[in-house]
Amino acid sequence: MVSSACFAELGHSVDIIEIDERKVEAINSGKPPIYEKGLEELLSKHVGSNLRAITGYDNVRNTDLSFICVGTPSGPDGSADLSMVETASRSIGESLKERVGYHVVVVKSTVPPGTTQNLVMSTVLMNSGGIREKLGFAMNPEFLREGLAVHDFMHPDRIVIGSSEAKARDLVESAYNGLNAPIVRVGLSAAEMTKYASNALLATKISFSNEIGNICKKMCIDVYEVMRGVGMDHRISPHFLNAGAGFGGSCFPKDVMAMIRLGEMLGEDPVLLKSVIEVNERQPLRMVELLENRIGSLFGKEIAVLGLAFKNDTDDVRDSRAVPVIKELKSKGARIRAYDPLAASNMRGIIPDIEYCESAAGALKKADACLIMTEWPEFGQLDEEFDLMRSRVIIEGRNILLCEDAEGICW
Ligand code: UGA
Repeated sequence: MVSSACFAELGHSVDIIEIDERKVEAINSGKPPIYEKGLEELLSKHVGSNLRAITGYDNVRNTDLSFICVGTPSGPDGSADLSMVETASRSIGESLKERVGYHVVVVKSTVPPGTTQNLVMSTVLMNSGGIREKLGFAMNPEFLREGLAVHDFMHPDRIVIGSSEAKARDLVESAYNGLNAPIVRVGLSAAEMTKYASNALLATKISFSNEIGNICKKMCIDVYEVMRGVGMDHRISPHFLNAGAGFGGSCFPKDVMAMIRLGEMLGEDPVLLKSVIEVNERQPLRMVELLENRIGSLFGKEIAVLGLAFKNDTDDVRDSRAVPVIKELKSKGARIRAYDPLAASNMRGIIPDIEYCESAAGALKKADACLIMTEWPEFGQLDEEFDLMRSRVIIEGRNILLCEDAEGICW
């Protein structure tokens, strides 16, 4: 969605192929089917001129490039499920049977190394009648953060293009004309691996900070003070060193798991990546342990949970660290009142049987304790609202509060 709107902004004529008719309708009436800062503005600017959504693949044959941007969710064993990539490749291939000029099929989905070469290329060629000279293949991973995806597309640190041949690479490169970023030209599998390695390293930085933070907490050291000094080393960088309740979202947990499975399939034992996941699974439950240390048994207690999205500026609750926390609180007999500026309705789909409130103050009223699970800036302003609680027991998972009596998970 974001890539197509941004390619339209760069001046291209873009078709979004989407099988869900409700989403097609929404996009064509200028309404983004997901929340993403700046996206609605791009839709209102380009829908009706150079951007549209359609349900069929027929028009692929009239285009120069097709980007496969489908999901690659975790399969039952944690490996990437590539069925949607295969279906899209088949449909693109069928449409390309009648293509006259050169066309490049670009994989943007996060896929295990070898997928573009082995699955996409062969599926497209088989279904298109196989005129190899008319087809190029490329792998062009995205490094967009949810909530900041439009900004990240327009201001990339780098554009990685893996390709089967220079002609294909040059065409993909030209699609990004107008952006100011270094181009990293590599082979297909190296591009695929670059995406996994980037996400795995970012996730590792977070779990590393959490582990150091857990040790700091025992010694009454503020891990944020520590990481300020650590991050100033240019070899380390200050980013993604924020300790807290751990990483969630649709990417880090899934991609690190996929890398672990890939390594295992190749006979490796990815001990570091397994530990990254293990730290991340334990981390949110520490919030509940800290809470029990403060107020004892949670049975019958009223707990306010502020923040349900996996991070701020999104309504996405996939793998949100709030989920295991709420489940643990429920299993201990607590009564939960939750609030999130955007994500409550999505969380209702996963956990329907807790109370959802319209405001932080509503959730806090007469609560025995409060847990902060998401780094929403608006939570930073909360202070007097905590006086509505029975007592100000505040456990923080994101280091966003300014009030001094909140207890941090690792600080
Ligand atoms: C992540 C990557 O940052 C993007 O570069 C990548 O393109 C994307 O995955 C993807 O693969 O599509 P995203 O999942 O949107 O982006 O979210 P992040 O901003 O990376 O945050 C992920 C999680 O880590 C959140 O739960 C956040 O709260 C947590 N986090 C982040 C920390 O706990 N500490 C930090 O220092 C940073």
